[in-house]
Parts: sequence; C-alpha cells; structure tokens
Amino acid sequence: MALIGLGVTGGIGAYKAVEIVRGLQQQGHDVVAIMTANAARFVGPLTFEAITGQQVVTDQFASGTNTGIAHISLATDLDVLLVAPATANILGKFANGIADDVLSSLYLATSAPVMVAPAMNTQMLAHDAVRENIARLEKRGVHFIDPGEGYLACGWGGKGRLAEPDDVVLATVQLLNGGGSLLGRCVLVTAGPTLEDFDPVRFLGNRSTGRMGYAIVEEALVRGARVVLVTGPTAVKPPHGAEVIQVRSAKEMHDAVTSRVCRDKSPVDIVVMAAAVADYTPADGPQTSKIYRDGEELVLKLLPTVDILAELGVWRGGRTVPILVGFAAETGDAVGRAREKLRRKAVDFVVANDVSLPGAGFAGDTNIATLVSRNEMKEVPLSSKRALARVIFDQIERCLGSPSTAKEAGTST
Ligand code: CTP
Repeated sequence: MALIGLGVTGGIGAYKAVEIVRGLQQQGHDVVAIMTANAARFVGPLTFEAITGQQVVTDQFASGTNTGIAHISLATDLDVLLVAPATANILGKFANGIADDVLSSLYLATSAPVMVAPAMNTQMLAHDAVRENIARLEKRGVHFIDPGEGYLACGWGGKGRLAEPDDVVLATVQLLNGGGSLLGRCVLVTAGPTLEDFDPVRFLGNRSTGRMGYAIVEEALVRGARVVLVTGPTAVKPPHGAEVIQVRSAKEMHDAVTSRVCRDKSPVDIVVMAAAVADYTPADGPQTSKIYRDGEELVLKLLPTVDILAELGVWRGGRTVPILVGFAAETGDAVGRAREKLRRKAVDFVVANDVSLPGAGFAGDTNIATLVSRNEMKEVPLSSKRALARVIFDQIERCLGSPSTAKEAGTST
C-alpha cells in the first residue's frame, strides 16, 4: 500500500478529484489531499477530509498543522505526488521553482515521482508559455496525463478537460508499479466483438462490450507491461496507456494480430484473446449496395473465418512463447468445451465462462470463470472482471516462470 499525495488546484475538474481518491483507495492506497486556496473555492476541504480520512493540507503556515512541517514531512513520506487537476498557474510555478504555497513547496521538497493531469481552457493549453512549462517539466522527469477533448466548462470545445478519473488512477498506479512484475514484457490483448458487414448498412455482430478484455489490459498495464490492444468496435473507452488498434471484422483482427505476433523477433510475450471473434462472415463480402426487401426469403451464405488463436498455436509450434490464452464463452458445459479448445487451439489455458449464468454475461462488470489448463483447473467465483484479470495474470506469470519459458521469453524481446 502506498501513500499518494493528491494535489488539487483551482479548476472546475477539482470535483473529479474526489472520484480519483476513491479509485486510488480501491487499489489499496492511502491518499492525502493537498489543496490550493483556489481549489478550496471549488470543493470544500471537508469533502476530501471525509473521503480520505486524513487531514487536508491547505496552508503551510496554519497553526496546529506544523508540529512536523507539513510540506517537509509529507515530502519524505509520499510514494507519489499526483496533481489533478493541474492549472496553468501551478505548472508555471513547478516549472520555475516558485514555492509560494504548500503544493508548490511540496513539489520542490519531495523526491517522490510526480504525475500531473493538466486541465484548462484549450487556448491556454495551446499557449507557448504553458507548452514550454510542460516540456521543461517533462525534461525534469515529471509524468503527464494528457487532458481529454470535449465540452469545457468555459463553454469552449476542444482539448483541455481533466482526463477521466479512471485513466488518472491507472496511470498513477502504473507509475507506482514502476518495477512491476511484467516490466519489459509485451502483452497483446484482443477485446470486443467483430462486426461482419454484409451490405453498407448492416452487419452480423455479437453482444461483447470489450469490458473483460479492457480489464485485462488494465491489469497488464498496472503490472508494468507494454500493452497492444486490438479491439473491435465498442462503446466503452479503452484504458489509457495501451497502444490501441481499432479493427472491425474478424479478417482485420486476424491481420492486426498475426502481423504483430507471427514474425521473427516479435516483441510479444503474451497473447490474451478475449475478443468475441465472429466465427462466420458473409461469403461474398459486403455487398456494395444495400440489400432491399422484396418480400422473398433472403438466404445469407456464410463462410467460416480464420481461427486466429488456432493459427497462433500452429505458428508457435513446440515453443513456449508467446504464452497463449483463449476464452470460451459458452452456454452450458463451459469447462468441457474449454478442454476441447485447449487441445484444438494448442494454448496454455482457456478461461471458460458460462454466459448464461447470472453475473457472468457480456455487459456487466462481473464474471464467473474456470481457468482450464492441461494439468489443472482453477475456479474463480463471482468477482469483478478486474479481479478475474488478476487471477489470469497470476496464472500467466506462473507459465512465464517455468524455466524453459523464462529462458525463451528472454530471447524473444
Ligand atoms: N477465436 C479466434 N478466432 C476466431 C474465433 C475465435 O481467435 N475466428 C478465439 C476467441 O478470441 C477465444 C477463443 O478463440 O479466445 C474461443 O472462441 P469461440 O468462438 O468460443 O471458439 P470456437 O473455436 O469458435 O468454438 P465454438 O464452436 O464453440 O464457437
């Protein structure tokens, strides 16, 4: 468990910092809030005190808070200093060594890594003064989380809003796990559905939302891996920090995956195929013009798609790298079918789940699964998709840890 100093400065995004506290706590960390005077005009310090369970640091000279000098004792205790939202003003102070309040003093006094999530008006963000300050801080090793784009509180549209709290939490936890167990490893994850177009307005799809795959991406990032996410179209935002390759059809997913994995000196050590890849696609490809209703029966001829995972299994042959993990979303006898897939696709293990069980379907945040490998079976009772992702990576790390794999994985990067 780490101690995270959360610097909150005076922007409308200050209210989102409350959600960031929650997210960090859910990852098992303690948070102490350091608020500038302007931040306290947006959100009351009491809110942060109640949610962090810690005294909020607002004034470095306040009577009663200086039995240990707050910005000095905090500076040595912190594991990370996170500033979210960070205004143009605080960036200017950090960049120029101005220490006229508790947060800017803390920045100078701490040797903890610093993560900054700027939030401001689009024009301010684009101004040379701000850009130069950011560049200067980056050169000094400060980490940045890019602001998001969209409608800003000032009425403008464009880049400048505070990054989503989930993304801020993830980036911070990643920074904390700088020496994570998958540091130096590259993980390729597929997620979401594939859509098979059969005319310019219609497609065959499935109910996958990508949530399970995205939870796997988050866990890999938190463990320090480099992550390539190949995702089908979904409404859910991919986690911050992965290289994201958007695809639509099974063919596009196949090409994106195999071009990265099936080549000499591929950097990919682990492939997790969480995508619900279409098994069939229209035989004649998408028609160029719309199919009109003529009252007659319509027969759509479908051809099987290439099984990506099975192709990876064949390509890997007798080697043990990359680790291959498949999913089996079934309705009934998930484990039996997973065993069959384990053999047929020559993978290390299959995550089997019965999507007809309550709590294990596509759209929710939970799952129930069994990890089926050649020699063992591990049941994971109803848990969050993120918790299941942790179990999956514990298993992957066991596979990586086997002596032959460790040796081979070392030479593949
Ligand atoms: N998969 C794949 N390529 C496909 C279809 C599936 O790589 N064209 C992967 C999925 O991402 C998943 C695993 O294979 O990891 C199992 O997918 P599933 O569709 O359940 O398996 P199938 O082999 O198609 O078997 P079934 O007959 O049960 O549909």
